[in-house]
Amino acid sequence: MSAELRRTIRSETDASRTVLEATLYSREAGFGEAPSRIIATAVSELTRNILKYAGTGELCLRKVKDFGRRGVEIEASDEGPGIRDCDAAMQDHYSSGGTLGLGLPGVKRMMDEFSLESAPGEGTRVTARKWI
Ligand SMILES: Nc1ncnc2c1ncn2[C@@H]1O[C@H](COP(=O)(O)OP(=O)(O)O)[C@@H](O)[C@H]1O
Ligand SMILES: [Mg+2]
Repeated sequence: MSAELRRTIRSETDASRTVLEATLYSREAGFGEAPSRIIATAVSELTRNILKYAGTGELCLRKVKDFGRRGVEIEASDEGPGIRDCDAAMQDHYSSGGTLGLGLPGVKRMMDEFSLESAPGEGTRVTARKWI
């Protein structure tokens, strides 16, 4: 498997295919079945946000290493409208779209490391890592 999986997300089909690929990618990277499903769930939330709030964007998965630990990094990026108040967006049940508002805080809980970089007019980038 190549080191990196990079997918353009502009339709539900792109999103669901990428979620499936994320499960396989995580398995091949050495994760067990349950954590691989967790990583795929995080990918699902992030691709859903890209489609809903930005329309189109990119989802990238890569294997990472740090002091002998191995893991997977998810990077979801788009050039959509961005987020004015990132602290609010990270609160449980905050949604500007009338949905559950558990996507971003859920991804933060599911993964070991999480960062959200976004500003109005500057797009959004979420980077999250999970270690084996
Ligand atoms: N890629 C994005 N671009 C712009 N805004 C976003 C993006 N992802 C999340 N947001 C903002 O963060 C809020 C919280 O996201 P999330 O926790 O996934 O909940 P939900 O998707 O149910 O609204 C969204 O309602 C939206 O305002
Ligand atoms: Mg969401």
